[in-house]
Amino acid sequence: MIPNDFYRGRRLRSSLTMRELVRENQVSASDLIMPYFVVETDDEDFKKEISSMPGQYQLSLKQLEKRVEEAVNNGLKSCILFGIPAEKDDVGSQAYDDSGIVQKAIRLLKDRWPNLIVCADTCLCEYTSHGHCGIVKNEYVQNDPTLNLLARAAVAQARAGADIVAPSDMMDGRVAAIRDALDEEGFTNTPIMSYAVKYASAFYGPFREAAESTPQFGDRKTYQMDPPNSREAMREAVADLEEGADILMVKPGMPYLDIIRQVRDNFDTPVAAYQVSGEYSMIKAAALNGWVDEEAVVMESLIAFKRAGADLILTYFTEDVLKVLNK
Ligand code: PBG
Repeated sequence: MIPNDFYRGRRLRSSLTMRELVRENQVSASDLIMPYFVVETDDEDFKKEISSMPGQYQLSLKQLEKRVEEAVNNGLKSCILFGIPAEKDDVGSQAYDDSGIVQKAIRLLKDRWPNLIVCADTCLCEYTSHGHCGIVKNEYVQNDPTLNLLARAAVAQARAGADIVAPSDMMDGRVAAIRDALDEEGFTNTPIMSYAVKYASAFYGPFREAAESTPQFGDRKTYQMDPPNSREAMREAVADLEEGADILMVKPGMPYLDIIRQVRDNFDTPVAAYQVSGEYSMIKAAALNGWVDEEAVVMESLIAFKRAGADLILTYFTEDVLKVLNK
């Protein structure tokens, strides 16, 4: 005789509709933010595939517009922009120039699609000749002198029409500096999505090819977080919240699901997860080799962020996922 008093979990897995009925988490188009790399160039046709990120491109303004048009038609709700200026200098001037490439791209996208949420990554590394996220003196990234420049970049982005500014530099005090500057310029309603918990990660490798932002010396370990730490993540989150962050981001994503869960459990603000370039590249590489089912693996990776407690997800798979959701 088989006893009948055990848990029959299979009852609720009997069909797709049954599974969907009891499903705890969903990925939906409204949660996804697509990153784009926009290049300052006179060549309207410029569209260069990033070799370490198959399917992702550096785009001219015109090509960006084309790409976003297709994505919007597929249901894109939100994107984040990274700029690659024609000229870099040691103070990253193009980050806060009103006619810098990201500011131009924001104006273009907001003109055409006023309802599209356009976020701007607020940092200096794509604009500095040395590739660091702040001002450098004696090969050390200077915290306080950088704050004013980040604040100016955020204001330039807000003035161009950015819906959200997203500081990714990891200087201490930058959220407060940015909040003050935005408020002073009348942008009290522009939210800050802070890369609050951002680790010094090897998973950013492909991004640095995409954004041409590899540090020319040293690394980012004196400002980004040390991967072995999780209690420190809570201190970073508290600091950014107290300084005025509206959304807390954890980055990278998949190797840091425990951190997403801790941030979720400790704070009631929206939490964003960034599935970074290296995570994209690994899945892509395996898929291109025929080793994994790309669509299934991508969807499973995104639902993991939801299960860990993320509200929003920044992912280079956004355009692909929109197509899946439309099926
Ligand atoms: C800029 C920035 C980086 C990423 C987002 N903003 C690079 C870095 O910190 O080196 C990484 C995103 C990715 O890997 O997809 N500071």
